[in-house]
Amino acid sequence: IYIGIDIGTGGARVLAVDRAGRVVAQATQEYPLLTPRPGWTEQDPADWWAATAACLRRVTAEVGPGRVRGVGLTGQMHGSVFLDDRGQVVRPALLWNDQRTQAQCDEITVRVGTDRLLALAGNRALTGFTAPKLLWLRQHEPDAYARVRHLLLPKDYLRYRLTGEFATDVADASGTLLLDVAARRWSEPILEALEIDPAILPRLAEGPEVTGFVTPPAAAETGLPAGTPVVGGGGDQAANAVGVGLVTEGAASLALGTSGVVFAASGQPGHVRNGAGPGEAVAPPGLPEDSLSTIHSFCHAVPGMWHVMGVMLSSGGSLRWLRDALYAREAAEDRQAGREPYDRVTGEAATVPAGAEGLLFLPYLTGERVPYPDPSARGAFVGLGLQHTRAHVARAVMEGIAFGLRDNLDLVRALGVGVAELRITGGGSRSPLWRTILAAALGVPLRRMAVDEGPAFGAAILAAAGTGAYPDVASACAAMIRTGDAVPVDPDLAARYAELLPVFRQCYAQLKTVFP
Ligand code: XUL
Repeated sequence: IYIGIDIGTGGARVLAVDRAGRVVAQATQEYPLLTPRPGWTEQDPADWWAATAACLRRVTAEVGPGRVRGVGLTGQMHGSVFLDDRGQVVRPALLWNDQRTQAQCDEITVRVGTDRLLALAGNRALTGFTAPKLLWLRQHEPDAYARVRHLLLPKDYLRYRLTGEFATDVADASGTLLLDVAARRWSEPILEALEIDPAILPRLAEGPEVTGFVTPPAAAETGLPAGTPVVGGGGDQAANAVGVGLVTEGAASLALGTSGVVFAASGQPGHVRNGAGPGEAVAPPGLPEDSLSTIHSFCHAVPGMWHVMGVMLSSGGSLRWLRDALYAREAAEDRQAGREPYDRVTGEAATVPAGAEGLLFLPYLTGERVPYPDPSARGAFVGLGLQHTRAHVARAVMEGIAFGLRDNLDLVRALGVGVAELRITGGGSRSPLWRTILAAALGVPLRRMAVDEGPAFGAAILAAAGTGAYPDVASACAAMIRTGDAVPVDPDLAARYAELLPVFRQCYAQLKTVFP
């Protein structure tokens, strides 16, 4: 049995998987999200540990601790865990969706230089990333900063509690802005320019590499046998990608949660394709030239591979807003009757023709990251007329999200990654209408998965690959993953959406100056 542990934003999830990829036990436990000010998000690492230990006790009791061969870690990326010289948490961690660090992002860009940052870190400075959080602490809480001896990512705090080791994996480390993504090691020039002591950074490992062993005190708290190996694992997106089998160049997925992520595995770093190396990428028509550099260029959790990734902030989040704002009464009735409220929303949308009779929706409800790194962007309905009903609004919201995802896909392709099919995962993949709209708007067939267990599944696969069950990650994926049916592109629908895409792109360009 291989255990995958996922430290999500909402809660911890522990999954036990056998050698054939069958899920044999699982447990989840929520923990609070702290929002001390608008735009700030924090969590207490002690809550992560308590929730994980409780889930592990349940899962190990169910499967029998003696059968556990390895543990893999994954979780929310980018968060900053600050520890002192005794390994104690200095203050709550700042999370991936915390927006307080724009000034520090500007400072990093000035100190390192725009082109140099892209060439070294592979990415531009975005508020979600880790390095700006450390600079924020230095500036705003100098006493706390003075006590920091270790900087860890969320899942690596769990590794520390399980094994006593300070280590991370290169996929998760890519989201710190301190990694030389092409060389897969910490970037000395960036650390120097930002005056950060390299001694506070954890040791780097590859996803399937063993980083340590469960200690006797951790064994007593979790039920795991002492000495169980713990592998590097990966950030939630890279681990999710392993869980759907993206181990070759161009293998790609669409992950639909609150955010929407287009992820493509790549044989070379994305920014090397993007003009910083041999390639000279050109932005897709209608998107700004600098939107190419909003695509994240990270190491993959598969050794020797990288990945490119577009992250749209409100995908399922826009649909949830629609349900809560316009379907609240019916949603309550549906829940009472044991029906899924989203089925009513998509059912209504299905009664309206493609294009919602001239109504377009911009899905930037919480600002955007890709293709527009714009925290003040907001949603909009364009073209609203007397003919429009709630059903049109529902259809327009679904189509607007799909166009936003198409922007992400086109940018990934502009970097030269050939994408022939997208493996679709997450809650948003359950509606048939939604899948049909997405396949047509993206212009690429989708592939469902037989098992869609999220990042924890990928972390368990990395554990199996790293502890001897399989020779490498690709063969572990081949043995443990099964795909489901394909969703083809409807050519008429695709033609209609191809007409609307330029109009959709023009909307942001025209509206960006009126957002507050
Ligand atoms: C990736 C990202 C999210 C977080 C939270 O860049 O910000 O996927 O990891 O899930």
